[in-house]
Amino acid sequence: KNDNSTSLYHGMELLSKFYQYLLMDQRYGGPAQQYLQSRGFESKTAQSFQIGYAVDAWETATRFLERRGFNLDEFVKIGLLSKRELNGKIFDRFRHRVIFPIHDHRGRPVAFAGRVLDDQKPKYLNSPESHLFHKGKILYGYHLARAAIKKTSEVVLFEGYVDVIKAHQAGITNVVASMGTSLTEDQASLLTRNTESIIICYDSDHAGTEAAFRAAEMLKQYGKTIKIARMPKGMDPDDYISRYGGERFKNDVLGASLTIMAFKMQYLRIGKNLNDEGEKLLYIEKVLQEVAQLTKAVERDHYLRQLSDEFSISLDALKQQQYQYYRKQK
Ligand code: CTP
Ligand code: MN
Ligand code: MN
Ligand code: MN
Ligand code: MN
Repeated sequence: KNDNSTSLYHGMELLSKFYQYLLMDQRYGGPAQQYLQSRGFESKTAQSFQIGYAVDAWETATRFLERRGFNLDEFVKIGLLSKRELNGKIFDRFRHRVIFPIHDHRGRPVAFAGRVLDDQKPKYLNSPESHLFHKGKILYGYHLARAAIKKTSEVVLFEGYVDVIKAHQAGITNVVASMGTSLTEDQASLLTRNTESIIICYDSDHAGTEAAFRAAEMLKQYGKTIKIARMPKGMDPDDYISRYGGERFKNDVLGASLTIMAFKMQYLRIGKNLNDEGEKLLYIEKVLQEVAQLTKAVERDHYLRQLSDEFSISLDALKQQQYQYYRKQK
């Protein structure tokens, strides 16, 4: 009888394969194939991430699981199927969406993310939290990134599924996604394992930038090297790779990633005219406040020298002023 958790994993596995089959078959998956092609997915990549398609119908997955003798209520519990209150009738939750399976760290599919093929909302429909899927404990793509993370001792953190997949397609494989902008403590702890250095590469919009700072603060406690990567305003890693290619992404985005402090300094400059005396002094003051919070004297010294060089202010003066902020916090 197919009703224990082993068979739940087995059912997920089968369903994932079924969605893949539906995508591959031109009769069903035509529009989804076209969508993926238009976004630059190669079929090899789609296969290694087991991308699929849930057709525009109400009972396709339901019947598929039923025919194989699975207990449908188990699939209602993990949110793959829904049940009508009125008559107890069970139907598919994912319809007319591209399916991105989410795997646990052992590579077992534990959830699905379904993306609309156009700009309807919600853009992604995810499996809900369940005994099988705790979103906050999983980093998307980890099972495919683990070896590369170990080997390079570096990991790149993205927001989104597509960012991870496109990076792989470009040959960059030490990448995972937090699946949104709020990194959890569990994800942070997993992220810092087996690696010396973490590059946060969130979307270059307001939400992504704010979230990158939060993630960086959270990751600091693990004593690893934390850097933040920037892209042109409004772009995400997928946009960047699609437009400029993987080499430029590697060199100009990841390669140019900045320490938290350097990133803050750049961020503080945005919209300021540093030729204006007043704005310049305000900028320097803000930076000094940030520098004062750094715990390592060597780091404080480094940024003070940088300020001193750029603005031709004596290191002594900067140190004195910084020291005031430093003392205020104690
Ligand atoms: N996300 C989600 N549900 C949503 C929107 C976002 O779960 N309704 C998560 C997904 O993991 C998504 C990530 O947050 O990949 C980042 O969101 P966003 O940047 O808005 O989407 P993209 O990954 O850029 O998606 P796409 O490129 O397909 O538009
Ligand atoms: Mn985003
Ligand atoms: Mn967005
Ligand atoms: Mn994005
Ligand atoms: Mn995107």
